[in-house]
Amino acid sequence: PHVLTVVGARPQFVKAAAVSRALQGRIDETVVHTGQHYDAELSAVFFDELSLDEPDYRLDVGSDTHAAQTAAVMVEIERLVDAEEPDAVLVYGDTNSTLAGALAAAKREPTLVHVEAGLRSGDRSMPEEINRISTDHCADVHYAPSDHAVATLEREGITDGVVDVGDVMYDTLLQVRDRLTDGDVADALVPAGETPNDGHPADQLTPGDDAFVLATVHRAANTDDPDRLESIVEGLSALARPVVLPAHPRTVDALRREGLWARASDGIDLVEPVGYLDFLRLLVAADCVATDSGGVQKEAFYLDTPCVTLRETTEWVETVEAGWNHLVGADADRIVEAVESAERPATKPDRYGSGTAAARIAADLQRRLDPTT
Ligand code: UD1
Ligand code: UDP
Repeated sequence: PHVLTVVGARPQFVKAAAVSRALQGRIDETVVHTGQHYDAELSAVFFDELSLDEPDYRLDVGSDTHAAQTAAVMVEIERLVDAEEPDAVLVYGDTNSTLAGALAAAKREPTLVHVEAGLRSGDRSMPEEINRISTDHCADVHYAPSDHAVATLEREGITDGVVDVGDVMYDTLLQVRDRLTDGDVADALVPAGETPNDGHPADQLTPGDDAFVLATVHRAANTDDPDRLESIVEGLSALARPVVLPAHPRTVDALRREGLWARASDGIDLVEPVGYLDFLRLLVAADCVATDSGGVQKEAFYLDTPCVTLRETTEWVETVEAGWNHLVGADADRIVEAVESAERPATKPDRYGSGTAAARIAADLQRRLDPTT
């Protein structure tokens, strides 16, 4: 069988790393990189570190409005589906690249396969929520990361082709875990933007020795709302420990646009986005992570780092139920209180499988696409 895989944004390279490897020898894969993320630190670094093959096609769509970006990917995926005639189209997660691949494939012959199906934050103002719901309702095969996700799909009437395989990001993390002890993470921290961060703790930080808080912010609701962004800056700046924040380009733009850059770089170590391995090293070394990322909430859980989520909702509800993740939104006082009081709970349930999601996906998909196997 032949699968056409659509990836385009940072977390999708991490997810595909596990699945593409598992597909080898079972299913032929053609990989399409949409170009939603194009800067080296959001794209190439993941291909290098995770030894991903060069994509078969690069669409180079770049950044645009939601409709323009989604439409540009759709047009190209439709063309490729017609040219390549794959048995299935594989999409990951909840980005515009996911939705575009899903909509283009759903109106053609191939089986549409969604990895990370069944996630809901319950917040329809998030573009990702619209992408998830639409993709799940178009897909033929749904690989869910948890029993909770399976139950969510069932509540929405989706019961065919649903398999709880666990979380593919856990597979990738386990594959690199031995490499996390190599290298000095402090070397990887490059001040973000043009303003040098002289004298700030990132310069002296030796993760593992010093107490620090790791942070990431890139969610539209936080970067595009000046009040929320300011409040997050205020909260993170007020923490007693140094804060290291590898800044997504969207966040750098927003801080500059809102006149918050000087204030943020005064209280926070704003550094360039780091590669996957360095990010995980920082996560292991940090006392706590404050983030609005989806993937980082789970990685913190896997690596035993307490998480404070800068949102009111999450699709990774299991991490909250288990006591490892606290939802605080963008309120400065709540951020400070939650980070300062964050502790590692005594126990941690296995809610996202056992790191075998990719192998289960490959075996299940092979059976579906080639019933003679
Ligand atoms: C996208 C996803 C989000 C995911 C995130 C992962 C959607 C709607 N959002 O958000 O779900 O969590 O990726 O990181 O699909 N930019 C650059 N260089 C790049 C890419 C983007 O500078 O290589 C800047 C551009 O100014 C762009 C902005 O970042 O307008 C936003 O990029 P975009 O891909 O639209 O959304 P993300 O915030 O990255
Ligand atoms: N990540 C990274 N470098 C960074 C920040 C994040 O490698 O500077 C990784 C992180 O380990 C995780 C993924 O990027 O695997 C999460 O991506 P992001 O937070 O951009 O997207 P989301 O998961 O919210 O969709």
